[in-house]
Amino acid sequence: MGREAEGFTGRTAVVTGGAQGIGAAVVRRLCAEGCRVLIYDKSPEHAAATRDRLRAQGYSVVVATGDVSDQEAVRAAFASVPADWAPPTLLVNCAAGFVFEGLAATADQWHAVLDPTIIGLSLVTQAFQAGLPERDADAAVVNIASISAHVAQDGFLTYNTSKAAVLGFTRCAAQELAPRGIRVNSVSPGTVWNDGNERYHREVLGLDRAAAEAAPEHGGKFLLRRFADPAEVAAPIAFLLSRDASFITGVDLPVDGGYLAV
Ligand SMILES: NC(=O)c1ccc[n+]([C@@H]2O[C@H](COP(=O)([O-])OP(=O)(O)OC[C@H]3O[C@@H](n4cnc5c(N)ncnc54)[C@H](O)[C@@H]3O)[C@@H](O)[C@H]2O)c1
Repeated sequence: MGREAEGFTGRTAVVTGGAQGIGAAVVRRLCAEGCRVLIYDKSPEHAAATRDRLRAQGYSVVVATGDVSDQEAVRAAFASVPADWAPPTLLVNCAAGFVFEGLAATADQWHAVLDPTIIGLSLVTQAFQAGLPERDADAAVVNIASISAHVAQDGFLTYNTSKAAVLGFTRCAAQELAPRGIRVNSVSPGTVWNDGNERYHREVLGLDRAAAEAAPEHGGKFLLRRFADPAEVAAPIAFLLSRDASFITGVDLPVDGGYLAV
């Protein structure tokens, strides 16, 4: 089984947005590597379903429900880590705001995207580092940016601006936390075939996965001519969290089927 079996044995991770999509795949991957995981998500139903599915496989998963932009709820979530677990030394920030608007965006729309993606990211990272030692923390954070952080996309001004800010946050947090032995990196996924994208392609575009991947403007825009499965994003996140990445901090890793290469 190799390193997947034992990579994070005895360690604790917090995964925001871990109830669904990429976050749920990260939780599953970390559990498979021996980690205990606290899911922090605003959807109690989906979080409980993911927790129950993984517990049925023998994994250690707990849930704290709340919004990442709610400072008190974030503090309570970190305080709820079971006393017999190691303190969290791994953090994956998946929760984000999904608002796709251009210059016409209202202040409310900006809050809807920036509150979770940037303010929430900051509050969760702040609570995480507060529980770590001042030196040699041996800890790692991975944030989720996007290919949208790197390019302009028509009608995506709000989302792309928020994801570009994730790159800036990652670099600055890496600088601030490096003296304490805390690494901070990000990944930039291309389109991931999760429930939301499946629904969008089916209901809005009338395309199933095979048809969407065959279309030049959808799956065809990736060099690999397809979308990613959530597990294909979880694997490089696990690498960046792992001690195999011990000299990597402040970088963004595209996980994009070659989209940003051309
Ligand atoms: N799916 C893609 O194609 C894709 C591509 C690039 C980047 N991303 C990024 O990956 C991350 C995960 O996306 P996904 O597609 O897996 O999403 P998803 O919608 O499948 O899951 C997101 C999870 O985050 C939770 N969440 C949302 N807002 C929250 C908040 N304010 N507080 C707490 N929890 C919250 C939701 O309840 C949900 O469980 C996001 O940062 C997204 O921007 C996704």
